Amino acid sequence: MKRILSGMQPTGNLHLGNYLGALKNWVALQDDAECYYMLADLHAITVPQPPEKLRQSARETAAAYMAAGIDTAKSTLFVQSAVSAHAELMWILSTLTPLGWLNRMTQYKEKSAKSQDLELLGLYSYPVLMAADILIYKATHVPVGEDQKQHLELTRDIAGAFNRHYGVDYFPLPEPQILGDATRVMSLRDGTKKMSKSDESDYSRINLTDDADMIAKKIKKATTDPDALPDNLADLVKRPEADNLVTIYASLTDRTRASVLEEYAGSGWGIFKPALADIAVAKLAPITEKMRELLQDPVEIDRVLIHGAEHANALTQKHLREVKEIVGLWSLM
Ligand code: ADP
Ligand code: TRP
Repeated sequence: MKRILSGMQPTGNLHLGNYLGALKNWVALQDDAECYYMLADLHAITVPQPPEKLRQSARETAAAYMAAGIDTAKSTLFVQSAVSAHAELMWILSTLTPLGWLNRMTQYKEKSAKSQDLELLGLYSYPVLMAADILIYKATHVPVGEDQKQHLELTRDIAGAFNRHYGVDYFPLPEPQILGDATRVMSLRDGTKKMSKSDESDYSRINLTDDADMIAKKIKKATTDPDALPDNLADLVKRPEADNLVTIYASLTDRTRASVLEEYAGSGWGIFKPALADIAVAKLAPITEKMRELLQDPVEIDRVLIHGAEHANALTQKHLREVKEIVGLWSLM
């Protein structure tokens, strides 16, 4: 049986990139695997977070997962910090991770270049925690967007290092699942930058909580070139903004980009953008609505998260005992 683990940091609103690049795929995978989906709050505190806001963000992000279709009868939904084995395994894995491997990570370099503050160990060692998140479940598959690929390669290297060092075949090497066309949704303002929560301009992204007017306005204002849509994919290559909007359309409607071009070849933005806005609203409005409904009852969300953490704890404590046994460490039981 496949076992899946994935997660997002509960920092602010999720956007269309998170939805199309990750969440939508998580929902689709629920029927053929044992799935664990988490709110990665330990990762979130690698940049400063106001405590109450952090706790509330975990609830809101959990509501977004459920509103998008994560079914807690099928999948385990939990907050990372409530499952202590993640952090404990991280320590053990860190003793096998050469600094040279971490120095290669581009996300760390980008994030620390942006930050004016001190360079902190947490931001640097973040990928080792991510490896622990995955390996403590002995997960076989990890669905993520394109930007996390490097971290998954590192996870495989660390799993291999553990197995070799202790002469065991304990951790499976997890497969990245970078699925669909929209593995890298780009900013609506700049087709060369990825859509991200941390972009200063709210017009660069569509948030899952945006209302219909806002979505239409953002798509209307999206940067594009003046040309009409081409009739073949090759002609999109040098047009990143056009390519991005076509990709979003295709992914929202579960069609190929080629079939979208077939329909819209020769159309200008005055035709395509309103059509895209309609599709985006039709797809996102029910999610937003459901999210609002779920957030009316935070006690129920907390109940779901506690239940999920208990389930996650049972499996991860078992694995942690096995790992400690291999390493020569002590456990209570
Ligand atoms: P952000 O970059 O907005 O802070 P996260 O790093 O929390 O988002 O990413 C959460 C998940 O969403 C990851 O699996 C990531 O690969 C995916 N993801 C984030 N941004 C995009 C994007 N623009 N396109 C596709 N997938 C994305
Ligand atoms: N680092 C991921 C991100 O920023 C979130 C994450 C943490 C994650 N642990 C993970 C994703 C384990 C997949 C598997 O998006």
